[in-house]
Amino acid sequence: MEGFAILLLLLLLLCSFVISNLTVSIAVDTLNATNQSIRDGEMIVSLGGRFELGFFSPPSSTNRFVGIWYGNISVPTVVWVANREAPLQDLSGVLKLTNQGILVLLNHNGSTVWSSNSSRPARRPVAQLLDSGNLIVKEENDNNPENFLWQSFDYPCDTLLSGMKLGRNFITGLDRYLSSWKSLDDPSHGNFTYRYDIGGFPESVLRDGSVVIFRPGPWNGLRFSGAPGLKQNHLFTFEFVLNEKEVYFSYKLRNSSILSMMVLNSEGSWQRMKWIEETRSWEVYFRVQMDNCDNYALCSSYGSCNANKAPQYCSCLKGFVPKFPEKWNNKLWSNGCVRKTPLNCSSDGFLKHSGVKLPDSRQSWFNYSMNLEECKNLCKKDCSCTAYANLDIRNGGSGCLLWFVDLVDIRELTENGQEIYIRVAASELGMKPVILKLQQGKNERRRIAFICMFSIAVLILGLALVFYLWRMSCGKKPGLLTAVPESSSNVKNQKEGLELPLFDFATIACATGNFSTANKLGEGGFGSVYKGILKDGQEIAVKRLSRSSSQGLHEFKNEVLHIAKLKHRNLVKLLGCCIQGDEKMLIYEFMSNKSLDFFIFDQSQSISLDWPMRYHIINGIARGLLYLHQDSRQRIIHRDLKAGNVLLDHEMNPKISDFGMARSFEEKETTANTKNVVGTYGYMAPEYAIDGLYSIKSDVFSFGVLVLEIVSGKRNRGFCHPDHQLNLLGHAWRLFTAGEPMELISSPIRETCNPSEVLRSIHVGLLCVQQSSEDRPNMSNVVLMLGSHGPLPQPKQPGFFTERDLVESSSSSTSHKLLSSNDCTISQLEAR
Ligand SMILES: *[C@@H]1O[C@H](CO)[C@@H](O)[C@H](O)[C@H]1NC(C)=O
Ligand SMILES: *[C@@H]1O[C@H](CO)[C@@H](O)[C@H](O)[C@H]1NC(C)=O
Ligand SMILES: *[C@@H]1O[C@H](CO)[C@@H](O)[C@H](O)[C@H]1NC(C)=O
Ligand SMILES: *[C@@H]1O[C@H](CO)[C@@H](O)[C@H](O)[C@H]1NC(C)=O
Ligand SMILES: *[C@@H]1O[C@H](CO)[C@@H](O)[C@H](O)[C@H]1NC(C)=O
Ligand SMILES: *[C@@H]1O[C@H](CO)[C@@H](O)[C@H](O)[C@H]1NC(C)=O
Ligand SMILES: *[C@@H]1O[C@H](CO)[C@@H](O)[C@H](O)[C@H]1NC(C)=O
Ligand SMILES: *[C@@H]1O[C@H](CO)[C@@H](O)[C@H](O)[C@H]1NC(C)=O
Ligand SMILES: *[C@@H]1O[C@H](CO)[C@@H](O)[C@H](O)[C@H]1NC(C)=O
Ligand SMILES: *[C@@H]1O[C@H](CO)[C@@H](O)[C@H](O)[C@H]1NC(C)=O
Repeated sequence: MEGFAILLLLLLLLCSFVISNLTVSIAVDTLNATNQSIRDGEMIVSLGGRFELGFFSPPSSTNRFVGIWYGNISVPTVVWVANREAPLQDLSGVLKLTNQGILVLLNHNGSTVWSSNSSRPARRPVAQLLDSGNLIVKEENDNNPENFLWQSFDYPCDTLLSGMKLGRNFITGLDRYLSSWKSLDDPSHGNFTYRYDIGGFPESVLRDGSVVIFRPGPWNGLRFSGAPGLKQNHLFTFEFVLNEKEVYFSYKLRNSSILSMMVLNSEGSWQRMKWIEETRSWEVYFRVQMDNCDNYALCSSYGSCNANKAPQYCSCLKGFVPKFPEKWNNKLWSNGCVRKTPLNCSSDGFLKHSGVKLPDSRQSWFNYSMNLEECKNLCKKDCSCTAYANLDIRNGGSGCLLWFVDLVDIRELTENGQEIYIRVAASELGMKPVILKLQQGKNERRRIAFICMFSIAVLILGLALVFYLWRMSCGKKPGLLTAVPESSSNVKNQKEGLELPLFDFATIACATGNFSTANKLGEGGFGSVYKGILKDGQEIAVKRLSRSSSQGLHEFKNEVLHIAKLKHRNLVKLLGCCIQGDEKMLIYEFMSNKSLDFFIFDQSQSISLDWPMRYHIINGIARGLLYLHQDSRQRIIHRDLKAGNVLLDHEMNPKISDFGMARSFEEKETTANTKNVVGTYGYMAPEYAIDGLYSIKSDVFSFGVLVLEIVSGKRNRGFCHPDHQLNLLGHAWRLFTAGEPMELISSPIRETCNPSEVLRSIHVGLLCVQQSSEDRPNMSNVVLMLGSHGPLPQPKQPGFFTERDLVESSSSSTSHKLLSSNDCTISQLEAR
């Protein structure tokens, strides 16, 4: 009875939506001042059909807002909201254009809830929704953008569309800035704003409330100094304009049939989204904040951040030392660095730093017409000037940027960094006499350089020859695999020009002692792994794939080429492959510290893995997985991420192995045999283990398990607790909800651990193992969450919370062994 009533109500609601004069307004993109208005349920549509203006409710909210959204896609996406702070409570809202050219939103009793503004009185105003997503008010026959009476592009919300300006108008004072939604369900002003600051050189900053959390750096003529990845490409072009009238940033999409926008989301991430029609979803195309070093001033004054040195991100600039060395070494960087030697104005010099993001320039001074020499002289003359740099790096550099404050928020960049000259005392300049001497005899220097280079070249040639001859003594030298040589059916890879050494069987047999059991490192679903030493002394790991694989030669070679293209410091490097008859082998770099499971689950070994190392490993795995999921050219789902597949090099850097294997093998085999779910129990997401559905979110699940294992030192599968029957996930969840998450940590790391990092890891781990794959974050969020200090969402109950809810089925990758310990019997997984 009740259900029926609800159904009726729903129907009624639906009808009221459909009956309203939708048909009247749908074809129109213009609102007339004289007699037209739109009511809730009606909308106007831009001429090309791309954008719609009307009333909407955000998900799980009944509040009504007037907004503009992408209308022609399966997921209508709101890009602008009029009454952000003044929602309507019912469906009686009306949007009208007054005779004065003002848009007003009226509620049920005719009170104005929101209104636009107009710079001058109008005669025959009309409001029009353009195909760019801009809602404008103009005189009926005046299409000159300069004369628009009002436009929504001047009042951005959280979205920057193609053609919108982000910045300030110095004459009118108009400040176009973005501010995030409070949450997905609430478009009112959230905590984050992205706005131009015009105190010194105009620079945009992202704030959380009033606190700066990120700045992309000053514009250098080509890009923003600290956002090297934000560059013009096939998708869009952009510009930064700074003149007496205004400063702004704006971009244009090259191809108007592609949907893409830049959004400041409610979590404070500033990113470009792109609509993917195949998956019917918005994908993060590019995230402006890259890593931890993008946390504003992480290393404080005169510190420099390097993301590759994680977790010891910060170091002092040359000529500076930590203010409090002990704190600094404990990763408390907030006190920054101080000068080794105090300045003495007249005799000071400048140290050049290359490949960096320029420091905060909001209080700097600049001049576009000066050159670097003039810039230097000006800085040198002023004792309070701390650094100088070119303003524009194009054409060898021009312009001058001067700093007069302590330098903060410098980071090292692996690509597209800039140069800056930082003032230090003369005694810190070092090397000076040598440089002077060399400069005295320029010709002499050239001659020395030439002789040096010549001898080095001869040496290298000689060594190469010796090496070649030596190699010949054990098998032939590796050939080069460039796609599929025998056949012409696939030339795609040939074009890419990728070359991968092709080892011959004899070489590998020779290196591994004819695959002796003594050299066997492990056995897995895809085959066995052997250690080998090549004639030149290089240590290798050889994965000899099981012959049962039905994969053809073609597919195998192309697959290997795909894998070889994946290059990241947290992925194991593929050195080559070997194909002979039905033997297929992959040759990897050898990792001296074996795999992670060897350390974390072993009582004696786990002592040597302290918390900083574990945290370093967690972050490394996250970055490697992010690369597989998002940054590599093809998306790779690992599908068998586990401790045994994380190898450790001599510096304990984690490297994910077996990536791409799932892709190369499983595709064919699952279709042939649906029982073969490749993966490992204890790490498999519920939807994958039960339904065989895999996605990047099933990898995220495995990552979450791995994090909890690293923190606790216990295997998820085979976990056993006297108080309950839960597995590790259930146990962690129980402790977390009971407010005792620290109880989870493994005893060897209690001493060395940093509680906030541990808590964050457990929290993120639990977010990753949530039952529903939609709830789980993606890896880019994981990387951001691990690196930030902001609040985290509350996790929901994990999937496979107890072991009993797993319906066991046979698996190619797992074998079972019954093992009895204490009073509970567990079926223990045998790692591959
Ligand atoms: C719909 O439009 C027609 C004429 O265009 C008008 O007579 C009618 O009252 C309108 N209905 C509503 C619900 O606005
Ligand atoms: C607006 O109203 C005026 C006068 O009624 C009419 O001439 C004009 O065509 C209308 N414009 C639109 C877009 O409906
Ligand atoms: C109302 O708008 C319609 C269509 O724009 C127009 O034809 C009509 O003349 C307008 N009526 C008045 C009273 O302005
Ligand atoms: C809207 O979608 C239809 C069907 O998918 C397509 O034909 C049309 O080109 C789209 N229009 C725009 C503006 O994208
Ligand atoms: C209109 O309604 C609102 C909310 O229901 C109320 O606060 C306001 O006083 C009303 N205004 C008039 C003029 O009745
Ligand atoms: C509208 O413009 C006037 C004058 O330009 C200004 O004083 C007023 O604050 C503006 N109102 C809004 C809501 O922007
Ligand atoms: C926004 O800031 C308020 C006050 O500082 C805080 O309570 C809230 O959690 C923040 N929201 C987000 C999403 O960060
Ligand atoms: C624009 O993108 C569409 C869809 O991807 C493509 O079909 C079209 O060729 C592109 N146009 C240009 C000029 O690149
Ligand atoms: C600064 O350097 C000059 C020149 O080298 C020297 O004469 C002077 O004593 C120095 N002053 C201080 C305070 O060190
Ligand atoms: C910028 O530098 C040029 C060349 O040195 C000079 O002529 C000009 O006055 C400077 N501009 C300002 C605003 O200082």
